[in-house]
Amino acid sequence: MPRKKNKKIIKRKKEAIKKKKAVSVKDKELRAIKNEKYVAHLLRGMRDILPADQTYWDFVNNRAKSIAAAYGFERIETPILEDYNLFERGTGMTSEVVEKQMYDFIDKGGEHVCCRPEGTPGAVRAYIEHGMFNLPQPIKFYYCGPMFRHEKPQAGRLRQLHQFGVEVVGSEKPIIDAQVIIFSRAFCENLGLDPVIEINSIGCPTCRKVYRRKLNEYFKFRRKQLCPDCQRRLETNPLRILDCKGKECQELSKKIPQIIDYLCPDCHNHLTRVLEYLDEAETPYELNHRIVRGLDYYTRTVFEVFVRRPKVESQLEPFLSSAEQEDLEETQGLKASPLAPTQEGPRLAIGGGGRYDNLVETLGGKPAPSCGMAFGLDRIIEELKIQNIKLPKVHGPQVFIAQLGDMARQKALKIFEVLRKDGFRVAENFSKDSLRAQLESAHRLGTKLCLIIGHQEVLNNTVIIRDMLSGSQEVVDQDKIAKELHKKI
Ligand code: HAM
Repeated sequence: MPRKKNKKIIKRKKEAIKKKKAVSVKDKELRAIKNEKYVAHLLRGMRDILPADQTYWDFVNNRAKSIAAAYGFERIETPILEDYNLFERGTGMTSEVVEKQMYDFIDKGGEHVCCRPEGTPGAVRAYIEHGMFNLPQPIKFYYCGPMFRHEKPQAGRLRQLHQFGVEVVGSEKPIIDAQVIIFSRAFCENLGLDPVIEINSIGCPTCRKVYRRKLNEYFKFRRKQLCPDCQRRLETNPLRILDCKGKECQELSKKIPQIIDYLCPDCHNHLTRVLEYLDEAETPYELNHRIVRGLDYYTRTVFEVFVRRPKVESQLEPFLSSAEQEDLEETQGLKASPLAPTQEGPRLAIGGGGRYDNLVETLGGKPAPSCGMAFGLDRIIEELKIQNIKLPKVHGPQVFIAQLGDMARQKALKIFEVLRKDGFRVAENFSKDSLRAQLESAHRLGTKLCLIIGHQEVLNNTVIIRDMLSGSQEVVDQDKIAKELHKKI
């Protein structure tokens, strides 16, 4: 975009923000006059991840870390806040993410910034800025973290979502695409999910041009049946029509010409090699010529990961408010595989990726063909819950410390620290006075043993060790607690 035009846009955006600020100051004054009570509330499309859910997050994050390491990926962390242009240039102006979903604003220094909507451009920026092209290629990254997309909140669509992504930067070899796909399958299986991986090739800019012309011809005659957005997409990027949620547009997309018939020999050969590698590795996949992916940087291989779900009664409730529930059908229409509906029930895209041979260059680096993918962790965790997949048991506390009276409480605080440093998993409820309430807490936590300290025990330098199952009790000296616990645990 010419510099002058860019400056104009920034100026307009600054003015708009100034206006907004003026309104909000007025609002604040009004609120103060009315002495209105403020009730804290969550933003639409955002979610709290409560303690009860953390076992799922720990499980998935730990598995992500260990499988990434097993495939030789190294962790990279890039900032959540980035230059807006990184995504306008990288993710692409015709992608829905950049067109409609950016959390962008002019910061106090006048820079046009945004909360990252995805991880790939940030990782590529880091690759360029830290001169990683000088290292032996390819560079293999992985990342886990929040992304932001101002989507219409609905089933499986959050405004703050979490991704686990991998990128292999600096190799054009089809074996890389195959290994990224094999890795995707391995991660799902490692979590206990049964993935369905759908693959396509969208060619290189040259052969895609020919296909876009064909697609344009096909949709041009059906223009009136397309939604207003897709009528516009017909001019800007007809491939995006295949991603549209609208029922009519989806229906029309079913009979499109197949891109595979328009691939140039190099792209065709690349796809063939990827599939041969997958066959050799006995990795199942399905070809789906309607997978085009919603981001502009892709070249050649693209793929999406769905989950084969055993028949289930309720879908996705924990994700949804009642308004969002209404959109469920529509979303499943979109994210269920664009292939014919399956017998196994609706499928949800939990991941996607592909090759992006020109992105590094687009962002100012030396040419470095690359390939990667990302999983949506929120969707994966919903899927684990829906399928009632059992997580490995998390070890709870081994011993509970109960106290009676001020002196005992003081002693208990010290014993807690001593045992914790000795490596015991210790629990307490120091805010409770009654022994009964404390024993109830110990029961709830499922601790096998309970230490009881009362006034008498403080004076005698002893504690009572209670077996929570049998109810039997034993008095031991305080300096022998660890030894006794080791015997009993
Ligand atoms: P993506 O398909 O836009 O690809 O996102 C990857 C995954 O993130 C999706 O398959 C989905 O599971 C999850 N996801 C996306 N949007 C939402 C949302 N609003 N709410 C919940 N989950 C969501 C990328 O982001 C690319 N960067 C992947 C990639 C890496 N390609 C090459 N390298």
